[in-house]
Amino acid sequence: MIHYPNTLDIIFNRLKKLHIRPIIVGGYIRDSLLGKESKDIDIELYGATSLEHIEEVLKEFGKIITVGKSFGVCKLLYDDLDLDFSLPRTETKVSTGHRGFKISTFANLDFKTAALRRDFTLNAIGFDVENKIFLDPHNGREALEKKVLHYVDKKSFVEDPLRILRAVQFCSRFDFSMSKELFVLCGEMVSQNMLQELPKERIYEETKKLLLQSKKPSVGLLLLKNLGAFSYFKEFLSLDEEVWQKTLLAVDFMATQLTNDTRTNMVLMLGLLSLSFEKNAKISFLERLSNEKKLLPCVLKLQECDLQQAMSDTSLMRLACKTTLQHCVLLSLALYPQNAAMYLAIQKRAQKLKILYKEPKALLHGKDLIALGLKPSVEFSQILKNAYEAQIDGKFKTNKEAQLWLKRELFS
Ligand code: CTP
Repeated sequence: MIHYPNTLDIIFNRLKKLHIRPIIVGGYIRDSLLGKESKDIDIELYGATSLEHIEEVLKEFGKIITVGKSFGVCKLLYDDLDLDFSLPRTETKVSTGHRGFKISTFANLDFKTAALRRDFTLNAIGFDVENKIFLDPHNGREALEKKVLHYVDKKSFVEDPLRILRAVQFCSRFDFSMSKELFVLCGEMVSQNMLQELPKERIYEETKKLLLQSKKPSVGLLLLKNLGAFSYFKEFLSLDEEVWQKTLLAVDFMATQLTNDTRTNMVLMLGLLSLSFEKNAKISFLERLSNEKKLLPCVLKLQECDLQQAMSDTSLMRLACKTTLQHCVLLSLALYPQNAAMYLAIQKRAQKLKILYKEPKALLHGKDLIALGLKPSVEFSQILKNAYEAQIDGKFKTNKEAQLWLKRELFS
């Protein structure tokens, strides 16, 4: 038995009156059986004649998003839930890539056949809402218990190259192993260069899940390597064994330090992974992963992190002008845990100076120059720049001291 939000019963009862049978499927069932909460629920509707009819019925319950229409999916935002309703369907490969499928929907396909299009047996378990029973024709619950990831149908699995990365990130997230057959199949898909068929956003999404949702992302990284996927992420091939081993330990440490901000977390993880790449390799690695404009400069900034150079307050402030000190501390802790005491002391000092997350705040402003009788001009910016340099050199610590410094600079 699984538990789903009670409020769904209002919708389910309405569908029942229309002789439509809802079956909850996919990730929600998997996560429930693993004891994990989820707000995304996929529901297959058996006995429904068309998606248009479903939309007509569901629109009284909330906002319908029609984006998935061509995929035979109707999205409903209901309370805080994200519901995806679909008709049982089969998928036939018609062109390359991860979306090249012809979809045929059937009102009364049997569940076992409809589940054949799903990737892994643990994602192919259904829960029949009316009869309160599991539908598990591909033995997904057994796979869950044994912590093994296995494909549902070899023929349809290979039709979607994204599944290579899904296999890796699921094993990493849930600490599962791949069945021997799945490992061999994914390896074959990799060697046929199927990763190249994927749009980078999809690669990035799966990488994100691997790096941010795994207790030990090293599990997924090792799998990628063992599957031969470094032919795609070729920059890793340049790392010697010692650096590679250190990187694996470092990403697992970083996984314990993640913040609430996904982008920051990705910057830290990608910064760690690419720290030992040469600059050009780093750029090509990141550009192949994502179109996100801010990602590359943020990761490159981490290159500046050298806390050994930040022993004095001045050098620490200089570093804070170039990069975020807290990120440097995390990166350093991950890479050189033997020096943890030193990095934590630096972190404390940066906190005291209020520069852990941002560069030092300027103590002198244009209004101070005006107060001294100067007329606003283009020279202001140069004066303020010099003042900021002097502040970082420790020549003054308060606005009052800054004003005195300025007077001396200007009039003596
Ligand atoms: N699915 C699939 N092949 C894919 C993508 C999805 O077979 N390439 C199926 C799986 O049955 C999956 C369901 O569609 O469970 C929903 O997919 P999605 O929402 O992308 O992922 P989840 O499995 O829910 O996992 P996550 O927790 O990562 O969102």
